[in-house]
Amino acid sequence: MDKADKIIVLVEDDPIITAALTERLSEAGYSITAFATADQALQDLDKLAPQLIITDVRLPGTDGIDFLKQLKQRDQSISVIVMTGYATVSDAVAAMKLGAADYLPKPVSAEELLVKIERLFELLQLRADRDRLQQDAERRFALGNVIGRSRKMREIFEAVNLVKDLSTTVLIKGPTGSGKELLARAIHFQSVRRALPFVPVSCVALSPQLLESELFGHERGAFTGAYRRKIGRFEAAADGTLFLDDVDDIPLELQTKLLRVLQERKMLRVGGESEIDVHCRIICACKADLQQLVDAGRFRADLFFRMNVIRIELPPLAQRKEDIPLLTDHFVAHYAARQKKAPPKLDPEALHYLIEYDWPGNVRQLENVIEASVAFCSAGRLTVAHLPPEITHRPPAKGLFSLNLPARGTVDISGLTDAVQAELIRWALRLADGSQSKAAKLLNLPRTTLQSKMRKLGLAD
Ligand SMILES: Nc1ncnc2c1ncn2[C@@H]1O[C@H](COP(=O)(O)OP(=O)(O)OP(=O)(O)O)[C@@H](O)[C@H]1O
Ligand SMILES: [Mg+2]
Repeated sequence: MDKADKIIVLVEDDPIITAALTERLSEAGYSITAFATADQALQDLDKLAPQLIITDVRLPGTDGIDFLKQLKQRDQSISVIVMTGYATVSDAVAAMKLGAADYLPKPVSAEELLVKIERLFELLQLRADRDRLQQDAERRFALGNVIGRSRKMREIFEAVNLVKDLSTTVLIKGPTGSGKELLARAIHFQSVRRALPFVPVSCVALSPQLLESELFGHERGAFTGAYRRKIGRFEAAADGTLFLDDVDDIPLELQTKLLRVLQERKMLRVGGESEIDVHCRIICACKADLQQLVDAGRFRADLFFRMNVIRIELPPLAQRKEDIPLLTDHFVAHYAARQKKAPPKLDPEALHYLIEYDWPGNVRQLENVIEASVAFCSAGRLTVAHLPPEITHRPPAKGLFSLNLPARGTVDISGLTDAVQAELIRWALRLADGSQSKAAKLLNLPRTTLQSKMRKLGLAD
């Protein structure tokens, strides 16, 4: 930021001090506007939008301390330097308590003020840089509440950012606990529809009749027990998003009706006669490979094609182990806050077990494990002892490596050593959360050697 873009407001009722400070600060390159009272300054603040306000305490009308209070109420982040009479230490204390960035005893030396201003702007710049970096990192490794840094997850975030505002149907495929519903919510809440309804409906374990009336609603008297009209989920979603969960379980007879909705964007309530327009965006989720269900005659091919327009596949957690450290940190912080504890420090060995485990229940299982471990841990550390046995009990290792070599034939020793080295480097990078210098330490190698090995083995990005 150029100095001239740094706007300072000075509030001082003594014209001689005002003239002296204004001259010196303008000379130093700042844009400075002076007011004789706080009330006048308050009127013009929105227009001026200063980054810094320097105010005297003793002022006619609103005094400097009240002025500071009002400023902080308008905008917590505004920087204020207060000039206090030299005998009034209590003013300085009050000002600092109210959030002043600094204070200066009077008579104010312009040089001293300049030093303080420069330091303050440096600090503001550092803070802005840090916030920007943090936001960039967050944007790269998260989409709403969905966290991930693996290449696969980053590709998903990019894809979602491209399609979130469209009305095209999305199909999310993934095993249990992989984050399908969380992703569907993120798509909705990151999109232009965020203020409109998000309506989830599970297609599992409902009889075809129940599911039909759940989705499309029914008219009064449509069937025994239909005492009053019911609005279905499609209508409830209005212009928002309908999340059709577990579409693999939709009974065949209902698939035909659903196809009509997806094709023509019109539906009938059960027992109803007038057609109703469907406006919502539809996000479907499935666990099974729908193509296989189609081949097996359990899913209509035409419905599959209608659903499968934008397809997002969430891989099992075991196929994106790079996400485990980030997810673990996130859940540790989350559950520590929930349990009103300071977040415990995760032992590297505990993390090692978490990374090595296969997670059949995917992210949900990791989340549950962390929730329990945080509850069990004390003394601010989360260690292997706090992890459940299924994660720490592994088949006993037969030495560091076990060789599985053919009884006859040749073995390419250099190819095999390369494979072992690549495996070790991947292990270290996972454990080091992608940091090459930490991974090099784990492998007891200089970082440059690790890097050249990575290039040689084709592991560098
Ligand atoms: N990438 C992620 N970042 C943060 N939390 C996640 C992530 N993926 C999943 N979770 C958490 O894991 C749990 C399970 O996620 P979710 O319910 O979305 O999975 P699902 O795929 O719908 O599972 P199911 O098929 O069993 O219904 C939730 O508590 C969710 O918040
Ligand atoms: Mg789900």
